[in-house]
Amino acid sequence: MTIPPHGGELVDRQLTADQARELAAKADGIPRLTLNNREASDLRMIAAGAFSPLKGFMGRADYESTVRSAHLANGLAWTIPITLSAARPQADPLKTGQEIALFDREGNLLGSLVLEEKFAYDRRTEAKEVFRTEDTAHPGVANLFSQDEVLLGGEIRGLRSQPLWDHAELERSPAQTRKSFEQRGWKTVVGFQTRNPIHRAHEYIMKCALELVDGLMVHPLVGETKAGDVDADVRIRCYQALLKDYYPQGRTLLSLFPAFMRYAGPKEAIFHALIRKNYGCTHFIVGRDHAGVGNYYGTYDAQLIFREFKPEELGIQPMFFEHSFWCQKCGGMASTKTCPHSPDWHVTLSGTKVREMLAAGQRPPAEFSRPEVADILIEAARTTR
Ligand code: ADX
Repeated sequence: MTIPPHGGELVDRQLTADQARELAAKADGIPRLTLNNREASDLRMIAAGAFSPLKGFMGRADYESTVRSAHLANGLAWTIPITLSAARPQADPLKTGQEIALFDREGNLLGSLVLEEKFAYDRRTEAKEVFRTEDTAHPGVANLFSQDEVLLGGEIRGLRSQPLWDHAELERSPAQTRKSFEQRGWKTVVGFQTRNPIHRAHEYIMKCALELVDGLMVHPLVGETKAGDVDADVRIRCYQALLKDYYPQGRTLLSLFPAFMRYAGPKEAIFHALIRKNYGCTHFIVGRDHAGVGNYYGTYDAQLIFREFKPEELGIQPMFFEHSFWCQKCGGMASTKTCPHSPDWHVTLSGTKVREMLAAGQRPPAEFSRPEVADILIEAARTTR
């Protein structure tokens, strides 16, 4: 028995080849809208069924309910608004029931939306409720405040996604990952979200989790991340090198997660878990400061928020891990939960320090990062300088 997707049914809004040709033929004759990168990524996710039960961009009832009470209007848990914005002069002539062709910023046709409603919204309320801050130094808030003033709700259809990063075989839809798990005979699968190169602490918590379940899906987010984060193509090389040498092939699946990173901390942790349930995971790892940025969230806020939901309304089991590190006294990886020694024994490095070392061509200590990963990052830092 595989785990049911959120809301019970896996959505598929991808156009067949014939439907895609039909849309391309009529796209010039219908209203058009250019999506920003977040919206384009969301469209891709909805079409593939990753955002089940959503079949399109949110209408007012779902939007307001998500923002104010972290549930869809029908009562299902949901923490992140999935919206499409338009400037007033563009939105005003659009009529309910009309089909709108959706393009990315490069002018590629992505799909279409049948307009169900247009509505005004309050960005400040969304910022406060979803991001817990209105500070535009927060990348997610900055992105929200750059949106246009009207939201357009309605069901979408998406063209089959262009593969990301020359790694077509690594981007699997929820239907495909579910099939992979079944073929491998995995009944319980833990999902791991990351937007960083995998360091030893990540590896430790993943392997602790894998001790308790049948399989592990390493599911790095390769949609847009903030400036300063390592590029997805470099990270993919790191993941492949690490998995090849340090992970059990028969129990690990590397698959790309083309979502846009919002940095919404706790709210995004719930969202990440629900979406991984759609991909067929039964368990989901939440470590320290999951999906956080700067000092906007407490170290374990993304774990504490799970208490606000009944386990059965989430339907996926979170696995919480405290801050993990190599402890020289323990002589191994440990966490604040399991290690009795003073932090002086712990090998921890700030992101800034690691970046400095890599830029100077130095490997961080092997207790912090595997040398195979460090070498790829050093090479990437050298060629982008
Ligand atoms: S995130 O934005 O995707 O959460 P990151 O890639 O750094 O950032 O983290 C991936 C996962 O590993 C998250 O669940 C995070 O909480 C967890 N994590 C990262 N570093 C540590 C650490 N040192 N100890 C425990 N958990 C960690």
